[in-house]
Amino acid sequence: MKKVNIGVLVSGSGSNLQSIIDQIEQERLHAEIKVVISNNPHAYALERAARHHLPVHVISPLDFHQREDFDRQMTEALNACEVELVVLAGFMRVLTPSFLRSFPGRVMNIHPSLLPAFPGLHVQQQAVEYGVRFSGCTVHFVDEGVDTGPIIIQAIVPVFDADTADTLAARILREEHLIYPQAIQLYAERRLEVQGRKVVVTAVTPSAYQAMQNPSLEMFAA
Ligand code: GRF
Repeated sequence: MKKVNIGVLVSGSGSNLQSIIDQIEQERLHAEIKVVISNNPHAYALERAARHHLPVHVISPLDFHQREDFDRQMTEALNACEVELVVLAGFMRVLTPSFLRSFPGRVMNIHPSLLPAFPGLHVQQQAVEYGVRFSGCTVHFVDEGVDTGPIIIQAIVPVFDADTADTLAARILREEHLIYPQAIQLYAERRLEVQGRKVVVTAVTPSAYQAMQNPSLEMFAA
């Protein structure tokens, strides 16, 4: 199977980048990371990339007056590396419409909530404060809104009374590391078809129907 060329955009720790690298190295994900781009020179993600001998670019927003110019620089770097799919992995900047037009239907993001609940920032804290019993993570195609694009795959986790934003974030992150490589693999296999708001995944085995309750239903327990 032909590998898909990806460029990974990061700003921070890069644990999602690491999970993508690991799945590629284990030959479960048919992708090649052509470049890792960070807007933050101190991102730990850059060390992870270097450890795996991946080409990296640091593009600092401080060097540009306009968002468009920063995004144009990124577009040029991605095109120079023949990137087909742009993978946002903890990239803490909103992309301009002109950047998105350069990669139509070819930008993915991962977000640590069950969208459309809790878009934006500090979402694990928001989930804990709101008192939701479940949260999770979402991989979606990026459109011009913030965390509004067509949803590819989601995973859910329970939220417990004792949770803090940090404990919930760690539980969600474990799922992120599973669903992001899976979403990219579905793309590589050309199985994602965007139909309006929806992503249709072809030739998929639907997950077994499993309702979950949290707390569990004691009155029906054996
Ligand atoms: C993840 O929670 C991701 O969902 C969000 O930013 C965080 C990045 O973590 N967009 P990492 O840099 O991949 O460790």
